Amino acid sequence: MEINDSKFGNCKTAYSFDELLMLPGYAQMSPKDIDSSAVLNGITLKSPFLSAAMDTVTGPEMAIALGLSGGLGVIHRNCSTEEALAMLREVKNFKIPEGNSNATKDASGRLAVGIAISSEVERAIEVAKEADILFTDVASFHNQKIFDAVKKTIDATGKQIVIGNLGTEEGVMHAVKEIGAENISGIKVGMGSGSICTTTDVTGVGSPVPFAVAEAVSALKKLNLSIPIIADGGIRKPRDIAISFGLGASFVMLGNIFARCDESPGEKVEKNGKYYKVYWGMGSKEARSKRAALDRYQDSGKGKNIEEGIKIHVESEGPVSDKVEKMTYQLKTTMGYIGARKISEIRAKANFAVIKPKGEKIGVE
Ligand code: IMP
Repeated sequence: MEINDSKFGNCKTAYSFDELLMLPGYAQMSPKDIDSSAVLNGITLKSPFLSAAMDTVTGPEMAIALGLSGGLGVIHRNCSTEEALAMLREVKNFKIPEGNSNATKDASGRLAVGIAISSEVERAIEVAKEADILFTDVASFHNQKIFDAVKKTIDATGKQIVIGNLGTEEGVMHAVKEIGAENISGIKVGMGSGSICTTTDVTGVGSPVPFAVAEAVSALKKLNLSIPIIADGGIRKPRDIAISFGLGASFVMLGNIFARCDESPGEKVEKNGKYYKVYWGMGSKEARSKRAALDRYQDSGKGKNIEEGIKIHVESEGPVSDKVEKMTYQLKTTMGYIGARKISEIRAKANFAVIKPKGEKIGVE
């Protein structure tokens, strides 16, 4: 058998954050010339950070705090339509304190907010009335049933949608052709690398964020399109954020990092004098017990009983505003090192090195 006939011959290398490093580049600007803002669906975010649509990450309190800090909250969907609408209204009715120049605003000056949607078209149409940006929230968007539902939602609402999650060049090309580039405001990528995610352990399927971003970039290049890419899942360190942008993302979606903040809905618990917050995957037993977002994952045929996430405790780390300020500063420092003035310049300026893995001993020496 030829090597190319085997499944290994054409294997791609799916790099993870640990294996990548950006090289320093020539910089000609001072830190004050560096701009970390990016535009999604016509809305400018001063800091390109989105909170994950998870019920232990984004409720109205998180969406308000993150919106005021220059990011964007994406309200979860593990609740009834009425509850989702109430959360959205709470954000939209919040009065932005005077003098806040960072807040992420809609065209009429109110706080902007995103909402998770799925293949339930009626619900998507309802929540679209109160939200600024719609984000499909399904484990794998590369699915005909999802394509059909999203097309119906777009027809009914006339709104653009952030699609996802996707993880391959083929998936991005297929989805863009099916949905239509003019209907897509962003492409969310990454599968199986979330900090509470067991999808890859359980199924052997996944697309780590660095690889997924590179695949989406390659698809958009082939299609000659420029659509913002959102890196989602497995982002833990400031370095992971920087690398995601270096590979071509314009935004990052954060679960674990924001679950630690005071404003996440997760319960705060004390253990040996330290405070922790509860954080669980949307495919975990705990999230599934609410039964409102079961269609994020595939139906096993026996009532969607395959768990693809876990519950963990993360250390409680203070207000979201401090975190966003720090992450923005860290990102600007990266941009300074590689010589990028704007988010849209990072990819062109970034050069990567691959870190050689430590040699592993195989068998007994
Ligand atoms: P984190 O920032 O590494 O914690 O990853 C958060 C992301 O993981 C979310 O935005 C989702 O895309 C994804 N996710 C959420 N819940 C689950 C789950 O139960 N299993 C797999 N992935 C999940």
